[in-house]
Amino acid sequence: MTPAQTSAFSALIQRRISHEPTAYITGHKEFYGLDFQVARPALIPRPETELLVEKAIELATSVFAHSCLIADVGTGCGAIAVAIAVNLPHVKIYAFDISGAALEIARSNCHRHGVSDRVTLLQGDLLDHLPEPVHLLIANLPYVRNSELVELSPEISRFEPLLALSGGADGLEMIEGLVSQAEGNLLPGGAILLEIGHDQGGAACEMAREHFPKSKISITTDLSGLDRVVSIFPTW
Ligand SMILES: C[S@@+](CC[C@H](N)C(=O)[O-])C[C@H]1O[C@@H](n2cnc3c(N)ncnc32)[C@H](O)[C@@H]1O
Repeated sequence: MTPAQTSAFSALIQRRISHEPTAYITGHKEFYGLDFQVARPALIPRPETELLVEKAIELATSVFAHSCLIADVGTGCGAIAVAIAVNLPHVKIYAFDISGAALEIARSNCHRHGVSDRVTLLQGDLLDHLPEPVHLLIANLPYVRNSELVELSPEISRFEPLLALSGGADGLEMIEGLVSQAEGNLLPGGAILLEIGHDQGGAACEMAREHFPKSKISITTDLSGLDRVVSIFPTW
């Protein structure tokens, strides 16, 4: 290597030694077979979130076969919305985030995967600016309990945005906020799919049951056998 290459390479190694995640150093992360641009204003998409995408694709295909409107709340780099839009040409997605900087990264990912015409990016608090009711509400919102933030690895706590992690005292504050906004924003026969922490299945079902006492509610486990997705089929 030339001296310039050696010094550039050493600088990259130094960043990793300082615990910066590899995906932020390279600026890329694979998710659902697609390459995503990632940068520090947005969480690095995790493999377990692919389960949420799988469930959404399954429902959108089997139940809402002809046209399907979806809202992805807390879209970050846009991984969930883009993965669904790329795989299902009949869906239209509203993708929300409270962070304008995260939405800029999502915009770039929509563009690079050719789905900008079907994914509408909107800045707002949960569903505040949803233009019309949808068939599917999906979200991987922050769900780390405040008391557990200190236990996160330095890769996460020093580099990933707190806004993408902190779920309040019980970890379910954001998720409950979204569930409480479902009525009026979900079309009849619609469903809610939510990613949760591995030990939040019981509490999440209880919370969902309080909001929708007559609904069908179920938990799907991830490939490690851990609680990961809550599915709610509300009836009002
Ligand atoms: C856990 S990250 C998930 C990002 C992405 N969906 C993924 O799975 O990789 C949660 C995202 O929710 C966003 N967020 C936090 N609070 C929000 C709120 N009140 N309304 C909308 N988005 C919010 C954060 O900015 C962050 O991008």
